[in-house]
Amino acid sequence: MKHLLGIKDLSPQTIEQVFTTADEFKQVLNRPIKKVPALRDTTIVNLFYENSTRTRISFELAQKRLGADTVNFAVSSSSVSKGETLIDTVQNILAMKVDIVVMRHSASGAPHFLSRHIDASIVNAGDGTNEHPTQALLDAYSIRERLGSLSGKRIAIIGDILHSRVALSNIYLLTKMGAEVAVCGPATLIPRQIEALGVRVFYDVKKALQWCEVANVLRIQLERQSKPLFSTLREYALYYGIDRALLDSLQKEIVIMHPGPINRGVELSSDVANSGQSLVLDQVENGVAVRMAVLYMVGRKETTDSGT
Ligand code: CP
Repeated sequence: MKHLLGIKDLSPQTIEQVFTTADEFKQVLNRPIKKVPALRDTTIVNLFYENSTRTRISFELAQKRLGADTVNFAVSSSSVSKGETLIDTVQNILAMKVDIVVMRHSASGAPHFLSRHIDASIVNAGDGTNEHPTQALLDAYSIRERLGSLSGKRIAIIGDILHSRVALSNIYLLTKMGAEVAVCGPATLIPRQIEALGVRVFYDVKKALQWCEVANVLRIQLERQSKPLFSTLREYALYYGIDRALLDSLQKEIVIMHPGPINRGVELSSDVANSGQSLVLDQVENGVAVRMAVLYMVGRKETTDSGT
């Protein structure tokens, strides 16, 4: 695997290989010495043009656990503020003998563009509203861990589907692995013709929750909305927020997921986010093992699937 740019072109076999490799690394992470020298001679730069807590720390920890040399690039204190282009920035970094670039960018397609112009491997850590492949891999890995498999499971993705790279990567991955997928949200936050991706659509959150075994709840991304797409966050919370009373009314127990950051009291109430039904911190924990697997597969060039 030269790059990981998105889930769209990954085969189910490669996805399964990420999971089985992550199983091995999860065992390493549970040992007293949580390190293996698998990428000892590899240098990785984390190039984050957008804010991140979970993804950036998770990638950095994964790199350190694999014994790689890592460098963090902070855009705010770099020469990007002096007008340096993306390609110039990366080519200058690569001149210092970097093997892998982990990249987050607000522009959809930025990692794909870069991969056509440089020799290093690129791992997409989220590009605009396009894809967030490692988030989808860790989400699916966490479902597989809790429910035993993905095939035939009913998973509802609830919230701001229109602006979510997490939603798109999850839809690609879960449908490839044989899960049934639905999206749910206000009509203004559901992309037109999304059914063409093999998902069903709910506009009523209670119906979506009654249908599914797992609800992956997404944040409202106000920063990506150039015009208002619903009245107020209070109204959104009233119609689409998930709280204890709503879950209790289902008369079955479903799994609750959220990629973070959570707007507590908007898409999820705190008691639900903190409950035993919630996989939120399992997702974060599994993120390190899954990213170790991805970096190992990219760094070791182990598979034949291009992943691009
Ligand atoms: N889930 C996720 O991408 O979170 P961060 O933006 O904090 O990395």
